[in-house]
Amino acid sequence: MSTQELKSTIRDMVVVGKGILAADESVKTATKRLASIGTESTEETRRQYRNLILTAPGIEKYICGVILFEETLSQKTDNGISFPEHLTKVGVVPGIKVDEGLAEFEGSVEQYTKGLDGLGSRLEKYKKFGCRFAKWRAVYHITENTPTEMAIKRNAEDLAKYAKICQEHGIVPIVEPEVLIDGTHSIDTCYKVTEKVLKEVFAALKKENVMIDYTILKPSMVISGKEASNRAGVDEVAGKTVKCLKATVPAELPSINFLSGGQAPQEATAHLNRMHTLGENLPWYVSFSYARALQDPALKTWQGKKENFGAGQIAFIKRAKLNSLATMGKYAENMENNNLNIVAVH
Ligand code: G3H
Repeated sequence: MSTQELKSTIRDMVVVGKGILAADESVKTATKRLASIGTESTEETRRQYRNLILTAPGIEKYICGVILFEETLSQKTDNGISFPEHLTKVGVVPGIKVDEGLAEFEGSVEQYTKGLDGLGSRLEKYKKFGCRFAKWRAVYHITENTPTEMAIKRNAEDLAKYAKICQEHGIVPIVEPEVLIDGTHSIDTCYKVTEKVLKEVFAALKKENVMIDYTILKPSMVISGKEASNRAGVDEVAGKTVKCLKATVPAELPSINFLSGGQAPQEATAHLNRMHTLGENLPWYVSFSYARALQDPALKTWQGKKENFGAGQIAFIKRAKLNSLATMGKYAENMENNNLNIVAVH
């Protein structure tokens, strides 16, 4: 197997000041997002929404890669170019979500991820659309009795099998173990669970002979449960997240790109920024791969209305720029009220 493809994809995706946009919502999730602005979800409205985000002028200044959903691969921009082609043309690497969603372990709240069957041939198909990296998400529920050793082990093994298959096909794997934010748990409980999960994931990757230097990690931050009474502040989230990653993630991993996992956009940006101002030496590039925390302001501004298209794009670019600044520790809260010189082109 030649590693040349993997090498050049990593080179294009690990770029200081840039991050990854997750625009890989399944039809079900996209329908939920559109419902939140009172817009019916059809193939065309989903295309319109993706068109707004992916053709936002200047996207390539802050975003190096976009995770797409299968439906989007064959859809086109308003100018009639397929979305992956458009992204490639502006210098953004197209990627694809390849897992096929979650299934429940019998009699439990815990879940595993479907999609290993036939993965190799699907990857070959996606490559023809221009995709150069993939994503697979595993989830871990924090309750009194979970996650169990069994769920942690099974998800780690499946993430490793997926990553191995990707690399065999010249596709860079994004490995996404998400410790869910739902619940009343403390940040310390989240720390313990995340540490265990990441240790198991890297042990499984090693066992499968996955090349760590051609892999991207997309973890959740170490953070209090959404319904916790005394939620940890920015310093504690950033400090404990970095400590946990340093204890578990090999230095040869090129990039860590966080998911936002239900954090408010501003919160996700502030946490990332703080990780870069702690004065810690970070052996990997540390950036973002947000979906909601990048897209929500644009979705709310757009409201499914043609006349809000340009304003929606500005809202998206503003969030992308703020997160770009956060990857360099240059974000400040007062920038939220500034237009950052982003102007509409449409
Ligand atoms: O799999 C989840 C997405 O890629 C990240 O989404 O940033 O909204 O958590 P999120």
